[in-house]
Order: sequence, then C-alpha cells, then structure tokens
Amino acid sequence: MSLLLKSGRLVYPDEVKSADLLVEGEKITRIAGEIERSGLPRGCEIIDADGAFIFPGFIDAHTHYGVGEGEVRTADGFFEGGRAAALGGITTVIDFADQLPGKSLIESMRKRTAEADDAVIDYALHQGIYYFHDDLPMELDELAESGIRALKIFSTYKHLGLYLDPVYWDRLFRLAGERELLVTIHAEDEEIISGISEKYEEGTAGPEMHPVLRPARAEAAAVERAGEAARRNHVPLYVVHVSSSPTLGVIRRLRNEGVKMIAETVPHYLYLSEEKLSGPDAKLFMMTPPLRTKEDVASLRKAVQSGEIDVIATDHCAFPADLKVRFDDCREIPSGIPGSGELSRLVDGIAAADEEGRAKETCRMLSCNPAQIFGLYPQKGSLEIGSDADLTLFDPEAGGVFGSSSILSTAGYMPYQGIEYTGTPKLTIHRGRVIARDGRFAGVKGSGRFIKSTRPGAYEL
Ligand code: URP
Ligand code: ZN
Ligand code: ZN
Repeated sequence: MSLLLKSGRLVYPDEVKSADLLVEGEKITRIAGEIERSGLPRGCEIIDADGAFIFPGFIDAHTHYGVGEGEVRTADGFFEGGRAAALGGITTVIDFADQLPGKSLIESMRKRTAEADDAVIDYALHQGIYYFHDDLPMELDELAESGIRALKIFSTYKHLGLYLDPVYWDRLFRLAGERELLVTIHAEDEEIISGISEKYEEGTAGPEMHPVLRPARAEAAAVERAGEAARRNHVPLYVVHVSSSPTLGVIRRLRNEGVKMIAETVPHYLYLSEEKLSGPDAKLFMMTPPLRTKEDVASLRKAVQSGEIDVIATDHCAFPADLKVRFDDCREIPSGIPGSGELSRLVDGIAAADEEGRAKETCRMLSCNPAQIFGLYPQKGSLEIGSDADLTLFDPEAGGVFGSSSILSTAGYMPYQGIEYTGTPKLTIHRGRVIARDGRFAGVKGSGRFIKSTRPGAYEL
C-alpha cells in the first residue's frame, strides 16, 4: 500500500516547508519538493493536499479510555475514544495502567493492554504507582523493559486508593532516576483538600463549591513539594493538567532554579472558567482539578503562547452526561470530561496569531514534544524518513463552531458548545492507512498497537 501526499505544507516545530511526501507500507519513505508521478509504486494513491498543513499525527498524551466500575464507567473505551481522537487528527494516545492491588506492575500492564484490544489508533501507557513495596525496584526494571517509561503518582484521591503518600516520593523518584523513568504527577495537596472538605457535610457541596473545596493553592503546594523532591533526586518532573496561575508561578520559579519541570495543560483550563459551575449544565463541567477563574484562564493562555507549556493533552475521561447529572455533591459527581476529538481545533485557536506560527506551535505541543518527552520519537511525532506514517492534514481555514451536532464522544454532550474554531483536521492517516476523512471515520477496530516507549527525552532537557 502506498500513498503520495502532493502539495502539502509539512509542519515541524521550527519550520513549515512545501513538499510532497511518499508513504510506503506503514512508513514515510520520501520527502521532496516534488515527487514525480512516473516513478511511483504501482497502485499508489495520490492525495492532493492542496496547500493544507501536514502534521506528524497528533498525540493525546493524557487519556482515560474505558475506566470505572459497574454503572460508573466512562462512555468511551479505547474504540470510542480512539474514534473521536482519529476524527480530531490524533493517531496516538498515552493512557494509563493502574497499579492493581496484589498484582505486579507487569500483570497490571498486561490487563490494561488486554482492555485496549479494540484500539483503533496506537497507544502507549503511563504506569500508576499507588503502593510502595520491596519488589518495586525489580518490577520497575521489568516495566521499563516492556516499554512503559513514565510513572504516574497522585498527591490526592486518597478515597479512591490512588494517593501515594509523599513519604515515599524520594525513594520513588530515586528509583525512577536510576532507570530513567519519567515521574508524572496529578498535583493537588490532599491535606489542604481534606481540611476544607470536612467542613462541608455530605450532600451540601454543589458543583459551584468545587473550586472552593479544591483551591488553586492546593495544586501549587503539591507542585512545589514534588518539585523539591525532583530537585533532591535530580530527576525531571512532568506536571499533568496544570490548571492555575499560582501553579505556573511555582513551575517558573523551580525552572529558574534549575529543576527540570515539564508542564502539561488541557483545553478545558484554556477555554472554560468557574462560571460554568453555576450554570444549568454545571454537573457536566465537573473534572479535577476544577475549573478556575477567568484570570487563571488568561494566565494559562499566555503561558501557551510564550512556550512555557510543553504539552497540551485532554485528560479525556468521558463519564456520560446522564450519569453525571444523577449526583448532587461535587465530591460524588463522576469527575472528567471528553476532549480528544476537539483537541487540535482548540489548540489551533490559542497559539500564535499567524497561520504558520500557529501550526509550528501546534506541532510542538501536540506532536513533537509529547513524542520526545515520553520516548516515542522519532517513530511518532516526526515527519522524517523512517517514521511511522501517522499524518494529519489540517485545513487552517476550515473554521466552525462547536455544537451538539459535532459531538464525537459517546458521553452525550459537548463541553465546548458555542466556541469558535478556525481550522479543522480533514484527513487522518495512521501507519499508512486513512482512518478519518472529512469527518467520516474509516478506522478498523483492533488495528491500534501498543507502542513501546524508549528513554524519555525529558532526561535530555
Ligand atoms: O477529573 C478528572 N480529571 N478525571 C480523570 C482523572 C484525573 O484526575 O486525571
Ligand atoms: Zn488527574
Ligand atoms: Zn487524568
């Protein structure tokens, strides 16, 4: 199978170049100003990109597909989430393997890869670490060998059994450093949160109370504490879903002092603010950390534009609308919203003012950085000969407005209702096969593969 993309604008983080690109099998095999039709492989499909941008397939570096138990389960599993992602120009996601009680990390990982057997795009995994025990060093060796090179810790969610007590952080960070594993953290200080929460009786804190119960200072405090552990143990630290201006301040200071801090944010903190939590659909906007103030949104947007944000991912965790509305207390409403399908259009709307500047920044935050930071590069995140032919054709002039008719998740609602976007992914190619074209999904269930991560580029920063 071969494909020639003619007359595209190939996007790299530091340049945009007009060229033709040839795909043979699953790989990019040629890039040239003009590739003559005469020497093409027999049966080669020719696609006229007509000046559209061609990105290395986007990567959503933070998804939770198919999580939860019983009735409290996300609507999008690997198939549904991947379908939405593919329609949004994403060809790889990085999801999570929980550390299962009584199971080794490898057993936990295998369970997760089995759950992903209907994936339609490729995926890598972060490994949650919720229990510290004596076999962990050996288990981490096996894990790295098997292709998981990023760990995820939570400084909160004690009630869910995900909290890793900070007394273990130094030991874990040291083990990670010795193996060059990247520690990532959901940072909110459990003590601050539980101290506030116990003042509100069960059933008395509606959605509008969520930012009060989980304030920005809890996020900033946890980032500060984890950043200090990273400093002591000479390892980089990746902070997921940064939601607030105080946290940006802490990251800035630690970076200035030489700590390798990597910052991820997600579109909901760049577009939505806490006013949504008093509106009619308040329950649908419940995610953790909570939506913040308009000032926080403005600071985060500035940080994207100045290059302080390394990665924009989605935290796609698509609990269905009809489930979310059944609960009243913000501590009980299933937490998380969809986003993979909208990610690229939302990012394009925030980055630099000029078209090519926006494309380069989008490439940096959605393709190149996540691939490099998490050790997927240059197989993913790059338009190079030999890289996987994961390609996203993006028309920067095909704008629109998000509405109910554009819902891609099966969660049944659109968090970005009424928000305008300026460009649209038109064609998604996954390892040489077209999986989405003009809003129509053409992927194949089960064709997504687990991609082994290699040494995280975060160690080279
Ligand atoms: O509310 C959220 N974000 N749900 C997903 C889990 C997490 O904390 O990332
Ligand atoms: Zn989180
Ligand atoms: Zn998450």
